[in-house]
Amino acid sequence: MVQNIVILTGAGVSAESGLGTFRDEGGLWSQYDLKEVATPKGFALDPAKVHAFYNARRLNCLMAAPNPAHFALTTLQRQFPGTVTLVTQNIDDLHERAGSTGVIHMHGTITGALCAACGHRWDAPRAMAATDACPSCGKTATRPDIVWFGEIPYHMPEIDAALMQADLFVAIGTSGSVYPAAGFVAEARACGVRTLELNLEPSETARTFDEGRYGPASKIVPDWVAEMLAGVSRPT
Ligand code: APR
Repeated sequence: MVQNIVILTGAGVSAESGLGTFRDEGGLWSQYDLKEVATPKGFALDPAKVHAFYNARRLNCLMAAPNPAHFALTTLQRQFPGTVTLVTQNIDDLHERAGSTGVIHMHGTITGALCAACGHRWDAPRAMAATDACPSCGKTATRPDIVWFGEIPYHMPEIDAALMQADLFVAIGTSGSVYPAAGFVAEARACGVRTLELNLEPSETARTFDEGRYGPASKIVPDWVAEMLAGVSRPT
């Protein structure tokens, strides 16, 4: 019997909310050079360009709304009798806006600002600028609270512990091309955890999963959640 579920989401879960993915045709990394906008070196070379990139992401996110996949995962969190740990690579807050709690943002959040000088964190304004001073130390080393390529993702010990306790690992809407998240399926399998991929099409790591179901997240995620909750008694 499944008691502990760990779910990893990627850009595909938010695609039908109008937020672009990274590697699909026309995706963000075909429009922007990731080395320029998503690396510490790129930020050091041109902070204004990087802030402009993330300001646009923040605006898109503000204008987007959660879709049935986000809501279904919230229903699962609320009604599943065991634990549901939701880990996301996404920097948007659509899981939270759908009502999910305790979401682990391993790549940071677009709603956060971070001072590279003192480590202070605060809510990002709608538009950040290289000249913004840290409200704590006053230095102008303000950056989006995003994990860039070459940086260590957040909350890894917590994620590893959840994977080790899991009975089921589910990856939703991720291409499986960025580590360490792309390695979670192998890590889970090594711990004897059953693994399921829910994606538009088989990902790069599809063959590592025990099972795959393919189609738009707004359809396949609610269907899977309904299956997981079938037979679960709910308070009347
Ligand atoms: N429903 C389900 N899956 C979808 C949908 C949809 N409607 N639309 C696209 N997908 C799938 C694609 O088939 C693809 O496999 O979502 C996946 C998106 O892959 P990527 O664009 O690579 O996004 P992701 O896996 O989240 O990227 C990981 O890379 O640059 C970064 O830091 C960024 O967190 C991101 C990381």
